[in-house]
Amino acid sequence: MKKKFYITTPLYYVNAEPHIGHSYTNIASDCIARYKRLKGCEVFFLTGTDEHGQKVAQAARAANLSPEDFTNRIVPRFVSVWKKLAISYDDFIRTTEKRHSDAVCEVLKILFKKKDLYLGKYEGSYCTPCETFWAAAQVKDRLCPDCRRPVERISEENYFFKMSKYQPWLIRHIKSHPDFLLPSSRRNEVLSFLEGPLSDLCISRPRQRLSWGIPLPFSRNHTTYVWFDALTNYISAPGFFSDSKRFKKLWPADIQIIGKDILRHHGVYWPIMLRALGLAPPKTIFAHGWWKLGDVKMSKSRGNIVDPEAVTANFGTDAFRYFLLREVPFGLDGTYSEKALVGRINSDLANDLGNLLNRSLTMIEKYFQGKVPEALQEDPFDKPLLSQAGELPEKYFRAMERLAFGLALDSIWGLINAANKYIEDVKPWHLAKQKKSARLGAVVYNLAGILRLVAILIYPFIPETSSKMLKQLGLEIKLEQATFKDLLAGGRFPPGTRINKGQPLFPRIA
Ligand code: ME8
Repeated sequence: MKKKFYITTPLYYVNAEPHIGHSYTNIASDCIARYKRLKGCEVFFLTGTDEHGQKVAQAARAANLSPEDFTNRIVPRFVSVWKKLAISYDDFIRTTEKRHSDAVCEVLKILFKKKDLYLGKYEGSYCTPCETFWAAAQVKDRLCPDCRRPVERISEENYFFKMSKYQPWLIRHIKSHPDFLLPSSRRNEVLSFLEGPLSDLCISRPRQRLSWGIPLPFSRNHTTYVWFDALTNYISAPGFFSDSKRFKKLWPADIQIIGKDILRHHGVYWPIMLRALGLAPPKTIFAHGWWKLGDVKMSKSRGNIVDPEAVTANFGTDAFRYFLLREVPFGLDGTYSEKALVGRINSDLANDLGNLLNRSLTMIEKYFQGKVPEALQEDPFDKPLLSQAGELPEKYFRAMERLAFGLALDSIWGLINAANKYIEDVKPWHLAKQKKSARLGAVVYNLAGILRLVAILIYPFIPETSSKMLKQLGLEIKLEQATFKDLLAGGRFPPGTRINKGQPLFPRIA
């Protein structure tokens, strides 16, 4: 039986269109999902949209639309961007769907019955852009401690969730599960936050102030707090309320990918909600860094965003995917610039990878009438290159298991560069002139094998390029249905294969 692998992304607010930040999370998650499928896992990859709350209600009002019409208009934009970016999700959940709101009501009822929810008075400040309450002591100069924008003062009757009750458990859990919160800097951040007393979480809004959301099942005068609502998606989609068999199979999630801006919601509120429900926490929550423009985080509310559709229209989906995953170690912040993107396209994709493929296919056409020759001759000169190729999969797997995307790509490019150097060193054009066809055949065969391996290993990152490469190499491999195990075990390139030399993969950008 296949091992299940459940991976989630955050549910994005639909108060504006998706930008590079959201694309990054989904591309990284897609890369993991594709990798795990090739590893032979049965993957359930979940993404979706967070549609309730004040922020979305305000955006709808500003657009002169009802929240329903507004969200129905924006959600297809997310779906279309994910399609352009080749995000291979298995399910897309909207928090406005019945399957979700039913589960949220169920969760609320369970916690209410357990007396983990109680009615209290909320007095303090509220930051609408962050949809977050702040206690008086946390707020200075009426500014949100997180985003530095003005907070609103509010005083109202609301329901609270007894989070403090679970604080000692959460600290113990984090300490005894080193992979629960990653990278470790984020784990330390949450642990130091938990050193102080944990306030109970206000999980409702009076309905008269905010009607756009799920009503509390035990108080029609209150709307569920948007974060409590949205976090529940990770269990509502796999069937917490509707399909217990499926839920049992899928939960706990294997990895939840988020940005570091929502670490506290996922590293503190979420595991405590699960604990209160008697459910296991996810195995890993990984909080990646931010993409910035200059020194400032890219964000919808600041308006300094770059549109992923415009970037892919200009440079292509794979170039964009490659750039985001290669440029910055996963977990750290990065600065986005078109100059850096073009630099990567020209050097890594056009020069290194594109040239290797192009030169190799040209040699197969020119010297072997378009058919991959048989390697009949071994030569000690080829040994280092062939052992580098032989060692690559293990190196790559090690990096991928740690989500070290940059290192995984480095290891592949190490082989690509070594193969380009090999061509310079053996000078196949001299071999052709000297009619050393057996040696020439071996050289070309080695290159074909390396290209096959590269095409397989880059698939999680740049799937379209990977399938174009395989096609040009004349190989009929459907990576969507294959496994590394089968591909690498029977790893020989079938001699006699007829290639289809096509257009260069990545033309240089002037
Ligand atoms: O927080 N760099 O939704 P959101 C990198 N609805 N990643 C970025 C980014 C940037 N500049 N900007 C956004 C919410 N992201 C809630 C989540 S989950 C139950 C509810 C990515 O639309 C990153 O993944 O504000 C971040 O955590 C997420 O978008 C926030 O998306």
